Amino acid sequence: MKANAIVLPSPALLEIERDRRNIEESLVAATGERRTRIDDAARHELLAGGKRVRPLLSCAVLRALGHDPTPFIDFIIAVELAHTGSLLHDDILDGATTRRGLQAAHLAFDVPTAILAGDSLVVLALERLAHGAPPTLIAGLCAAIKDLCAGESLERERLFDASVKIAHCRRVNRLKTAALFAYAAEAGAILGGAEERESDAARAFGSALGDAFQMTDDLLDFRGDAIELGKPIGRDLVMGMVTVPLAIALERDPALCEEVRCIWDGARAGDELSPRLLRLRDRMVRVGAFAAARRLASEEIARALAALDGLPSGRWREHLRSLAQAVIQRRR
Ligand code: IPE
Ligand code: IPE
Ligand code: MG
Ligand code: MG
Repeated sequence: MKANAIVLPSPALLEIERDRRNIEESLVAATGERRTRIDDAARHELLAGGKRVRPLLSCAVLRALGHDPTPFIDFIIAVELAHTGSLLHDDILDGATTRRGLQAAHLAFDVPTAILAGDSLVVLALERLAHGAPPTLIAGLCAAIKDLCAGESLERERLFDASVKIAHCRRVNRLKTAALFAYAAEAGAILGGAEERESDAARAFGSALGDAFQMTDDLLDFRGDAIELGKPIGRDLVMGMVTVPLAIALERDPALCEEVRCIWDGARAGDELSPRLLRLRDRMVRVGAFAAARRLASEEIARALAALDGLPSGRWREHLRSLAQAVIQRRR
């Protein structure tokens, strides 16, 4: 198992592991021949690991519908190629220094190379689908990528703004993350020739799961372990991002605004922020912000599980259930 895989209970783990191996092999093949440093940067990011949760989701939906995903694997990895391209760009936007346990590509290479590598991965994703995938898949991935860009942009329109509300954060999360999860799950249904009712159920499952996944990511930024996560913590806040847990805390205790602004001023001045970050984290615990954010994530998981009723019952539907539960329990 990859060091940064989501921890699943066996037997789900053992069965999903087979698909993960197929995905890894197809990703290695997708990187193809080296022409320039762009290919090196794309490979740096792509082959550094990653949970592969989006293509695994497509595989698990296909299996729940009674199909072997192997013949579709080159289409299935498109979502991971696009996602990895978005990470290359996201790390430039967020000024992140590490990703997937390695130095972020814009530092390991340089910013122009990382931008171009991100572009090339997104194009590679669409090129994969252009070679024989159902046209609805191409349209679906394009729509999800457009949503992802809109989410990233909306988030940045409100940087260093302590008046950001929970609803805004949730809209950002739905666009930047849930849209691609929804696509991944629906893609499995479309490739399996599912009826519309089943595709809709898969999509609803993926969307709620993605929403919970991003809220968990936002929580981990405050509460996680940098080594385990493979990316630094406290980064969202320092970069001026108000995510769900912080928006909840600010709504419950408006006096926290001053504390947050103080951290932002300190970040601009290059101060050592650890004591202030720890103090803020304590105050967020006291107002119940983390518990409330976890509750919101659990509500989304409950929605995801309810949507699963629209897929055929069986072992793989149970595996999807395990995957959903593992997403909010994850520590990386
Ligand atoms: C990171 O996605 C971006 C978010 C949507 C939070 P993942 O947590 O799936 O990252 P990898 O692919 O495992 O590296
Ligand atoms: C953005 O979310 C993920 C993308 C849509 C690329 P984050 O900025 O929270 O992701 P991490 O924390 O850098 O992985
Ligand atoms: Mg980021
Ligand atoms: Mg994050």
